[in-house]
Order: sequence, then structure tokens, then C-alpha cells
Amino acid sequence: MKALSILLLIFMILASLRALFCDTDPQDVAALQSLIKGWQNFPSSWEASNDPCGAQWDGIMCNNGRVISMRLSSINLQGTLSNSIGQFSELAYLDLSSNSGLSGPLPTSIGNLRQLTTLILAGCSFTGGIPEELGNLVQLSFLAMNSNRFTGRIPASIGLLNNLFWLDLSENQLSGPVPISSATSPGLDLLTHTKHFHFSGNQLTGNLNGLFSPSMRLEHILFDNNQLTGPIPAELGSITTLQILRLDNNKFTGAVPTNISNLVDLNVLNFAGNQLRGTMPDLSTLTKLNVVDLSNNSFDPSAIPTWMLTLKTLASVAIASGGLYGQIPNRIFTLPGLQQVILSNNAFNGTLNMTGNITQQLQRVILLNNRIVAAKITQSYNGILVLVGNPVCLDPEFSSSHFCSIQQDSIISYTTSVTHCGSTSCSSDQSLDPANCGCAYPYMGRVFFRSPLFADLRNNEHFQLLEASLSTELGLQPGSVFLSDIHFTSDDYLQVQVRLFPSTGTSFNLSEITRIGFDLSNQTYKPPQGFGPYYFVADPYVHFAGADDGGKSQVSTGAVAGIAVACGLILIAVTSGAIFALLQKRRSRELSGQTNPFASWGIAKKDSGGAPQLKGARFFSFDELKNCTNNFAENNEIGSGGYGKVYKAILVGGTNVAIKRAEYGSKQGAVEFKNEIELLSRVHHKNLVSLIGFCYEQGEQMLVYEYVSNGTLRHNLQARGIYLDWKKRLRIALGSARGLAYLHELADPPIIHRDVKSTNILLDGNFKPKVADFGLSKLVADTEKGHISTQVKGTLGYLDPEYYMTQQLSEKSDVYSFGVVMLEILSGRLPISKGRYIVREFRMAINPNDHNYYGLQGIVDPAIHDAAHTAGFRRFVQLAMECVDESASRRPTMNSVVKEIEAMLHSEGLSSGSSSTVEFEHVGTASTSHLYSGQVATARSNSSSSTAEEPPRPELKHSEP
Ligand SMILES: *[C@@H]1O[C@H](CO)[C@@H](O)[C@H](O)[C@H]1NC(C)=O
Ligand SMILES: *[C@@H]1O[C@H](CO)[C@@H](O)[C@H](O)[C@H]1NC(C)=O
Ligand SMILES: *[C@@H]1O[C@H](CO)[C@@H](O)[C@H](O)[C@H]1NC(C)=O
Ligand SMILES: *[C@@H]1O[C@H](CO)[C@@H](O)[C@H](O)[C@H]1NC(C)=O
Repeated sequence: MKALSILLLIFMILASLRALFCDTDPQDVAALQSLIKGWQNFPSSWEASNDPCGAQWDGIMCNNGRVISMRLSSINLQGTLSNSIGQFSELAYLDLSSNSGLSGPLPTSIGNLRQLTTLILAGCSFTGGIPEELGNLVQLSFLAMNSNRFTGRIPASIGLLNNLFWLDLSENQLSGPVPISSATSPGLDLLTHTKHFHFSGNQLTGNLNGLFSPSMRLEHILFDNNQLTGPIPAELGSITTLQILRLDNNKFTGAVPTNISNLVDLNVLNFAGNQLRGTMPDLSTLTKLNVVDLSNNSFDPSAIPTWMLTLKTLASVAIASGGLYGQIPNRIFTLPGLQQVILSNNAFNGTLNMTGNITQQLQRVILLNNRIVAAKITQSYNGILVLVGNPVCLDPEFSSSHFCSIQQDSIISYTTSVTHCGSTSCSSDQSLDPANCGCAYPYMGRVFFRSPLFADLRNNEHFQLLEASLSTELGLQPGSVFLSDIHFTSDDYLQVQVRLFPSTGTSFNLSEITRIGFDLSNQTYKPPQGFGPYYFVADPYVHFAGADDGGKSQVSTGAVAGIAVACGLILIAVTSGAIFALLQKRRSRELSGQTNPFASWGIAKKDSGGAPQLKGARFFSFDELKNCTNNFAENNEIGSGGYGKVYKAILVGGTNVAIKRAEYGSKQGAVEFKNEIELLSRVHHKNLVSLIGFCYEQGEQMLVYEYVSNGTLRHNLQARGIYLDWKKRLRIALGSARGLAYLHELADPPIIHRDVKSTNILLDGNFKPKVADFGLSKLVADTEKGHISTQVKGTLGYLDPEYYMTQQLSEKSDVYSFGVVMLEILSGRLPISKGRYIVREFRMAINPNDHNYYGLQGIVDPAIHDAAHTAGFRRFVQLAMECVDESASRRPTMNSVVKEIEAMLHSEGLSSGSSSTVEFEHVGTASTSHLYSGQVATARSNSSSSTAEEPPRPELKHSEP
């Protein structure tokens, strides 16, 4: 094969010798030769000749022998941009977008490209300052430098780009103020023809005074997620062309200027997360408003503003922490277009009335932490309603309602259907093309809609329109678009994973990729109404059609000075080039073997609940989790265990979560991690802490769980024992037992928890227990090999002696540990304290002839002394002792423990909450298990092997057994 490649290359070079008399201007040829010295993976057609214009190099377009356009989007270019870029004096279009391997600073010579109209560097990794010389490019109408790593200030000279229509500098690390013109310097206030100001996600400081004026024609102003200060400039109210205004997550102060009311075309207004004061702005004249967010400011307390009840266009309203009080008017739920209402952390009181004619589209009502005492909700409402943290959830009548749990607020969103394709599955780097049910290498990337006009992600119509418009406008076969992983990021952008499929064969060729990449980077593609401004970041495409052998690469190797070779040292260069090529290809094959193991999830069948991420486990980006934990700040830390730290965080929309971040030593292989998540995401029970999602990015492995507000059972027994009366304790025991019984008997594959203990039973606001930390078998096993963590030490008192001796793990080991927890519930004591072991203490103390305390007067928690006389108490002690029997075979199953405790509650005249023995809340349908049967098998063998390899625990020191 090696020899063949060499021959092939020689052939290509010989062919190129014919083109010694070039059609291309020598200056441009020299500039290109110099440019590609700094690059790897440039198109291989560039090596075949030294005549870019005559021989039609991929991505290069010419006019009269001069290079006028370079479109090189998403082709995996690597390296730096050399100074010679400045020599293309006729260049009008330069698109290098989505080549994340392009790094280093931007050469100042870029300022020489006097003919440049379009400069697109989005989605690369450029660093350093933005050159002042850009101000020379007076023809420039489109400038997109977003999603790089540019630092320093925005050059004032950009204000000289009088023809600029699109200016996007967002998602960089730019700092300092936005330049404003003065007698001696230009400023961005001079950009009176610009329609798009996109500056989101930088570190800009200072105020915006003087930036806006009535002569501007801006449609989109995006300054969100910076550190801007000062007031919101009143001149903003004079730019009546404005449609989208995002100033959220800055440090703006003062009152909102009243002339905001002039912005009658405004669709989106987001001022959330600032320090705005005074009265809540009156938006009643903004009759085209779809999305409003005024959350997290310091507005004067008020009743609900009247515009919230009258603006018929509203789709999403958020005023969390807005100082609002009084009763929530029923009328708001009847607004015809309303999809989402977020009013968490206010002081709403009285009765929530969601009866009557409520809007069909309404999907999410989040009212966390208010003072609502009663709720009337119409039967027909099938959306999400979160009332956690309201007095109504302490009402025993209502507290078991699912509205008092945040679990229901998992994101359910649209995914392109491939049900019609049956059970076809593709190899890991290919995906199923919904248009023809074949497997192909898609062009993949993420679209970020910065300000959609809707909030409902289940709305099939929206996303089917998006699919259709992508295939039509990008010239693909109808239906050859696959959308997945649709969610709002922590910056409130709507992120959509897009896969586009080639019209013929299984791969795109290079010119198709650069064309589609340009259509998306230059905004030639226009999304349907309602999606608003977007940016696209592609994964570099590496599977080009027409490539030889299995390398699947049409891009060339680096370091081969292919052009110079045509007149020079052919053989040496060619030979070394070919060897290098082979090495490169092998490397790229190796690399592609390690691609994201979750990639294939997107193509799972959808008929039985969809791909795993639709059943509750969602992808989170590293940045999203980093942001919502304030860069994993210490004060967000709520615990740490054997495998890393746990952080509390609040997602967009107000969902509280706990994030477990694996530490270096406890990360597992990608496939194991995927299996773990698949396992966990299929487990749904109200007494088990649910997995909401995960992050597998930038070398991180994180699990995102629902946040359970009231701490651990241990904590409650110890610090607040007084609140846990006997009935509550019985209910806690029952709930935890139900959770474990579900794991043992209904989860598929069955899961042995292996670390049942009072610190792994969490209590929600209503003291409903939720068992945590199950299914992490591999993670725990791995840490045990390394060091002894506190988590493992803490397990000591709970360890099944038979398991300890035989290392044969079974469900009965969990039963033992649960028995220890029951003894803790009875005594309030730790399993091992002052050198004494709770099991032995009970065993020695029990005295059936003591009709008052069963011999346990000195052990029982004083808080439940009164209960000690009851038959139920006695039965509970007996049951606990059965659970901690030395012999596993004599211990009851978790299911019979559940039955026993239910009987106790009944005999005490208390409802056990449910008549069924084990509650089954599997989200999927019965066919779910066969759908993932391949993965189930892996998970099963994985967990059993990790069980078998369970290392001994030589560190055990306590006297039992
Ligand atoms: C609700 O709160 C308002 C203002 O705080 C108060 O005047 C009103 O009496 C409260 N209503 C109810 C039903 O508690
Ligand atoms: C709830 O609102 C509806 C519609 O406005 C009204 O008819 C009904 O009486 C209200 N119910 C309560 C309990 O306030
Ligand atoms: C309920 O709302 C629909 C549409 O919003 C409207 O057509 C209908 O008349 C309303 N019915 C009542 C009883 O108000
Ligand atoms: C790039 O986008 C702009 C603005 O949408 C448009 O006017 C221009 O024609 C596009 N360029 C090309 C070559 O399509």
C-alpha cells in the first residue's frame, strides 16, 4: 500500500508539471506557497499543481488570474496564519471558519486586504489582540471573529468600517471598554449602517454611554455576559429598528430608561442578571414582544405588572427574584401564545389558579420558592409546573403531587425521527441519514440561536421547519438533516446539534463542505421565522469523498512543500511526503477511533422514548457547567466523595442540580462512562435521585443529578433529629426501601447499590427520601484501588460481613447495609461510635420481656421514645435485626422489607402512600429494554465483571463481624 501511495503521488506531481505555465498571478502563487508552509491538512488538490486558478484548487476562486475568494470552512486546517495573507491584494472573501486547529495571532498584514468585503474567522482558535489595522478594510461588510480566543481591547478603528453590516466579536476574551469616538479617535458609535452588534460572552467593562444614537439602524444588539456597568443608555430607545436586545448578565445599574417603550418592533428584551433598580419597566407599548427576561435585578417590590397580562404576543416571560408579590392572576395563563412563565423566588402568595381556559401551548410554569399556599390546577394541563419551596408543598394533601418535585422538570425536546428506518445501525463515526435510511459521514456541528422567539422545545413544527429549510437552502436532499440534543445553554442560547448528509455516496467532497460551511458562516442560510440570529460551529470534516483507501481523507499532509516540488527535488520530497502521509493517515485513523462515544446516541430509534438523552439524561457542555457553578467555586461545593467533588448549581430556568465532577484519578474509560450513564438514565423512581445529564467534554466526566434540598438522612438524624418523628422515620425507611427494591428487582439490568448508608439517603423538602449514588460501581471500585477515601471509610459500619469474607456480592449486601440504616433511624447513632458497633449494641440490648422499651431504653433516640411502646416499633426492630443477620440467605429481600414497613404504617393508621409493593416509574415503555439490548448486555457484563474483580478490603479494622 505504501508503494502504491508513492506511485500515486509521483503521478500527480508529473501531471502537475504540465502546468508550469500558470494562469495565476505569480504574486498570488508565491503568497499561497508561503501560506501553506504554516498549514497542515490543506486540500490535496493544492499539491497537484502550482496553478491555483488554472487548475482550480479546492476552495480558491479567481478572477483574471487573481485570487478573489478563499473558502476553507471546516476542513480541519491546522497551524497559523502567516503574514503572507496580506499579499492577496484582490481578495474579497476570506472564510476560515470552524477550523479549530488554526491558532496563534492574526497578522497585522491582514490590514492590507483592501478589497476584502467578508472576513470570517469564527470558530477557530486565534489568540492575541485584534489588529488595529482591520480599520483599513473599508470595503468590509461582514466581520465575524466570534468564538476564538482573542484578548485585549476592541480596536477603535473598527469604527471606520463604514460599510459594515455584520459585526460579531462574541465569545472571545475581549476586555476593556467599547470604544466611543472622540475628537482624536474613531469609535463604534460611527457604525451607522451596521445592523448586528454581537459582543456576547466577553469581559467588556465600562459603560455604553455615547454608543447609541438615533441615526443607527441596528436590529440586533447583543452585549450579554460581559461586565458592563453604568446605566442602560436612554439613546437606546431611539433605535426603533431594534428587534433583539440582550444586555443580560452584566452589571448595569440605575433605572431602565422609560423611552424603551419606543422600541415597538422589539421581539426580545433580556435585562436579566444586572443591578437595575427603580420600578419595573412598563413594556405595554411593545406589542411585538415575544420573550422577556427581567430576572435577578433589584427592582422595587410590586404586584405583577399589567403588561404581563395584556401583551398577547408573549411566548416566554421570566421575572425570577423580581420582588413581585400578591396573587398570580389567572389571566396570565390565558395569554394566547404563552409557552413559559418563570417567576421563581418572588413573594407570590394566596392561591395559584390555573383553571379555566388556559393556553394550549403553555409548557412550563416555574414558581420555585414563593409563598403560594394552595393550588387549583386544571386536569387538562399537561405541562411542567414546579411549586417546590412553596407552603402548598408542605400541605400533606398536596405534597405528594408531582408539582412538588423538580424531577419532572427534565428537558424534553425534539429529535429528528428515524423510526421509518427500522433497526438499521451504523458504525460509530457514521450516522443514519433520515432521507434514505443509509449510513453516511455527516457534516456535523452545533447551531447556537442567540435569541429564539419561543421557549417550547417540544414543538415539532418549529424544528421540522428548521430541518426543511436547512436541506432546501443548503441544496441537500429533502429530509437529509438530523437534529438532536436541542436545549438552552446556560447563556440562554438555543443549541441544536445538526447533522447534514451528502446527496450521493457516503461522504461530502471538499468543495461541498466549504460551500455549506460558508453558507452557514456568512449567514447566507436564513433560518425560519422565530429562530433569530445564530452562529454555527462545525466539527472539522475528515471523511472526504474520493479519498484513496481507508484513510478517507482528501486533505493533505503538512510540511510537504508540494508546489516547490514541481520544479525541484521530486523524488526525495515525494518519498518523504508519502511516508509522512501514511503516518498522518494512521494517526488520524487512531484519533477517529477515540471520537466521542456518545455520537451514536443521536441516531437511536425514537419510537419507544427516544435516544437515551431524551429519557432524562442530557448532554451538558463543560462551559455550561462551569458557568453555573461559577467555575466550580468553593462556595458551591456541597460535598466530596471517593470520586470527586459535588457542586450545587442552578440551571437556566431555575432547576437546582447537584454536579458530581470526577477527579483525575477516578475517571473511567469513555465506553465505561457511557455505559454508566446509559444504566443510570434508564433508572427512574421517585425514591431514587435522578440523573439529569452529564458532561463528557474537555477531559471532564461529570454527572448532573437532581438536587435534593433537605440534606442527608444522617444530617437530619443528627442535627435536626427533633423534626423527625416516628411517622416520618417510618416513611423515610419505606421510601428508601422502595428505591432499593426497585434497583434490585425492576431495574434492567438489576443494580446492587453497594454503598447504602444514611449519608446516601437524601431528603427533599417534604422529607421524602431519595437514594443517591447507586450504579457507580466502577467509579467506586476504581477509587478503592487507589487511596482510602472518607467515603470508603464511612462504608465500614455498613459492610455485609459475608460479602467481606467471601467477596461474593449480592442484593443481600444492600439489605444488610439497609438494616444498619434502620438501626440508625431507631437510635440516631452512627454505626460505629466510640469504638462500639451499632449492630452488636442492639443485639446485646434487645430484651423481649421488656414490654416498655424492648430492652432498648438506653439506645433509642430520645426524640421517638413515645413510639417505643408500640407494636410497630417492636416489629421495626425485629425487621432491622433480620436484615443484619450474619447469613445472607436468612435476610429478607428488599421487596419483603417494603411489604413489612407498609404493614406497619397501615397498622398505625398511616397511609403508606401507595398500595403497590414496589412502585414502578420506568419512564420508557416495555420495549425500551430491547431497544438498548446491546447496551444493556454491555452494562450487565461490565457491572458483573467489576463485581467479580472487587478488590479485598484489607483496611477494615472494626471488630465486627
Ligand atoms: C399577600 O401578600 C400581600 C402583600 O404582601 C398581602 O397584602 C396580602 O394580604 C397577602 N394575601 C394573602 C392571601 O396572604
Ligand atoms: C380561577 O379562575 C377562573 C377563571 O378566571 C375563575 O372562573 C375561577 O373562579 C377561579 N377560581 C378560583 C378558586 O379562584
Ligand atoms: C378559550 O380560549 C380560546 C382561544 O384562546 C377561545 O377561542 C375561547 O373562546 C376561550 N373560551 C372561553 C370560554 O373563554
Ligand atoms: C454573504 O452574506 C451577505 C449577507 O447575508 C450576502 O449579502 C452576500 O451575498 C453573501 N455572500 C455570498 C457570496 O453569498
